[in-house]
Amino acid sequence: MKNLVKIIGLILLAIICIAGGGLIYLNTAFPKVSEVPELKVVQDSANIARGKYLANHVAVCIDCHSTRDWTTFSAPPVPGTEGKGGERFLKAFGFPGNFYSKNITPAAIGDWSDGELYRTITEGVSKDKQAFFPVMPYPHYGSMDPEDVEAIIAYVRSLPPIENEIPASEPEFPFSFIIKTIPKKATPVRRPEPSNQIEYGGYLVNMAACFDCHTPFEKGKYNESLAYAGGRSFALPTGLVTSPNLTPDKETGIGTWTEEAFIARFKAYADVSKLPKVGPEDMMTVMPWNMYAGMDTVDLKAIYAYLQTLKPMKNQVTRFKPKS
Ligand code: HEC
Ligand code: HEC
Repeated sequence: MKNLVKIIGLILLAIICIAGGGLIYLNTAFPKVSEVPELKVVQDSANIARGKYLANHVAVCIDCHSTRDWTTFSAPPVPGTEGKGGERFLKAFGFPGNFYSKNITPAAIGDWSDGELYRTITEGVSKDKQAFFPVMPYPHYGSMDPEDVEAIIAYVRSLPPIENEIPASEPEFPFSFIIKTIPKKATPVRRPEPSNQIEYGGYLVNMAACFDCHTPFEKGKYNESLAYAGGRSFALPTGLVTSPNLTPDKETGIGTWTEEAFIARFKAYADVSKLPKVGPEDMMTVMPWNMYAGMDTVDLKAIYAYLQTLKPMKNQVTRFKPKS
């Protein structure tokens, strides 16, 4: 009997040691990211213009890092709030904790080095190596061309400074530990030539993170077998919006869309003054149409060409279910 108690005691002790050791390991070995690179971004007008284009119309940094006008279709950013942060991704919307986009104007990141910004954008950790929640699509930004990342840094540094204190994000347990394993070392690529249309389109689709919204997301994981086939839902005040199928399936995807129709669909949202106001029962969307509408036609054509090379998959979704 005494021996049995001893054995159980030893087993319990072993379990505690393993669990404790595991937590210590998780805390010291993760996040596994690069050292801050030595970097000096060229702060010239060409770089700032390229960065402005990418941050507003392709990577859409400004979509999350400014105030969105949720009373207007597709919630365009409110002019004058660019970079001030404060968009909320809350537990109440289905996130594993409460997360707030940060102030990325020089008022907040003015004293960061270019290398620190580079690592944050491409690997997803703060200056002091705290892991970020991947609602900011840093796993995609990690395979951008360093030239494009540097252009975005030049643009962010050129934003008018806005004072705006942001609450600290609060991942909930056990996600507060899991989050540390998400940031990875970046895998930079060279930007394909636009003449190499399909590869170039794939590069843009990665940067715009179309996958993240257009792939079903269940129980904290993407269903990769339905990549780009739509079906991720977002609860909005007026109802439930679900992303449609972007694969070239002829019945449920965009297989019958012409290139002209695809481009026209995006360009239709370019003029903010023509975007409808959203009433209490109207369809609303999280897709940043107005921002993407500013994309160059060459880039939209490349995105279309790339999407047409995806494997067609059947997946019919109901795009919008009004609340009542
Ligand atoms: C889908 C929304 C979204 C997009 C798009 C996005 N971010 Fe973020 N960003 C966030 C959120 C949310 C955080 C904070 C994450 C957390 O606290 O876990 C963040 C954090 C940051 C930080 C850290 C700042 C600090 O004070 O620690 C920087 C810098 C940043 N983002 C820059 C960018 C840039 C540059 C882009 C475009 C290339 C971008 N973000 C695109 C949502 C987004
Ligand atoms: C923040 C989430 C989000 C992102 C990012 C996003 N989408 Fe969407 N998208 C949606 C949702 C939700 C809808 C359905 C509601 C609507 O039509 O706006 C949608 C609708 C669409 C439609 C209309 C399809 C149809 O059948 O009418 C197209 C085309 C589309 N998205 C393409 C893209 C492409 C290409 C990208 C990347 C450049 C992208 N989306 C990025 C959420 C997103």
